[in-house]
Amino acid sequence: MSAPHSNDVGHVPVMLDEVLVWLAPRPGGVYVDATVGAGGHAEAILERIVPGGRLIGIDRDAQALAVAARRLARFAEAVILQHANYSAIRAVVADAGYGAVDGIVMDLGASSLQLETSDRGFSFTRPGPLDMRMDTTQPLRAADLVNELPEDTLAKIIWTFGEERWARRIARTIVRRRPLHTTDALAAAVGEAIPRRSWPRGIHPATRTFQALRIATNRELEHLEQALPDAVGTLRGGGRLCVITFHSLEDRIVKHSFLRLSRGCTCPPGSPTCTCGGSRLVRVLTRKPVTPSIDEVARNARARSAKLRVAERLGPDQVSSADELVTDASEAGQHSADSTLPSISPNAPPPAPGLRRARPRGPRPRLR
Ligand SMILES: C[S@@+](CC[C@H](N)C(=O)[O-])C[C@H]1O[C@@H](n2cnc3c(N)ncnc32)[C@H](O)[C@@H]1O
Repeated sequence: MSAPHSNDVGHVPVMLDEVLVWLAPRPGGVYVDATVGAGGHAEAILERIVPGGRLIGIDRDAQALAVAARRLARFAEAVILQHANYSAIRAVVADAGYGAVDGIVMDLGASSLQLETSDRGFSFTRPGPLDMRMDTTQPLRAADLVNELPEDTLAKIIWTFGEERWARRIARTIVRRRPLHTTDALAAAVGEAIPRRSWPRGIHPATRTFQALRIATNRELEHLEQALPDAVGTLRGGGRLCVITFHSLEDRIVKHSFLRLSRGCTCPPGSPTCTCGGSRLVRVLTRKPVTPSIDEVARNARARSAKLRVAERLGPDQVSSADELVTDASEAGQHSADSTLPSISPNAPPPAPGLRRARPRGPRPRLR
């Protein structure tokens, strides 16, 4: 096991050993870290690909790139850092002068750098402006959503992206209390909206609302949906895409995207000829997501909800049968778990007051 790689802001890369096993970076290869953040995964990849290798690091957060640049300074010759959204991965790789790359890592969500910097406004535990932008050049801030959206739309966002059963009450309280300009004012409004006896155990009552607003402010799920096929399109045959997610909505998008890309033709069964033109692009290497070890979760609480899925790009001459190609993560000696996926789609309409939406497992969220 590798030593925990930390940095000047204390961001410890999640599932680093697992990423290295599945990505299998090779000396001289070209890799993309599409969420380079504080550079933890990137540093470990670079240690394995130099001399001769190249790492393209992408982040939409300019502050993160500055931290990554410092951390990766000893590999300066081998690193290209780009301030961009990973949905532009094809263009970034082409601009760097490459037609295809050997592997890609995406470690989704916010970094400790973002969560622990008060004036970025991501955290309910740190007073700060209601900002939450990963890319600070983007005009839209969380405060714009909180103070300007109609109550129904706010409820929909909190319900859908936060899977928060008290979404309607929270939205009502926010609207009654606005304008809200700070993280602590929003956290207090959420605390007031949820009856004390129903505060979730083990997490702050505002956790889900903050997650929802962060996802909406940064349009995280839309960018992810867009980026995954383009990331696959950027891989050479045999190259691997490793994606770490931190909540069920992200994991669901990755799972379904990988399935679509591994199936190819989507014509109805029995169609005489293929009219969709879809071709099978990947094999999915992780039938179930790989999860962190108990040790890692004990060392780093941020890892507790992490799930890693891996797909491998097929070469043009690869004959593939889904049965032959799928490998169970457990066969590779990894930790794997059933994904517990909610039936909530990011695009689902807002639930009606008092309605319950069915979930496949676990407690049912109820809108109040
Ligand atoms: C969990 S951190 C990555 C940490 C990194 N793996 C490390 O070891 O230090 C996620 C990073 O992804 C970035 N990010 C999130 N969505 C992005 C997007 N759509 N495009 C580019 N970067 C994104 C965030 O700004 C953040 O810095």
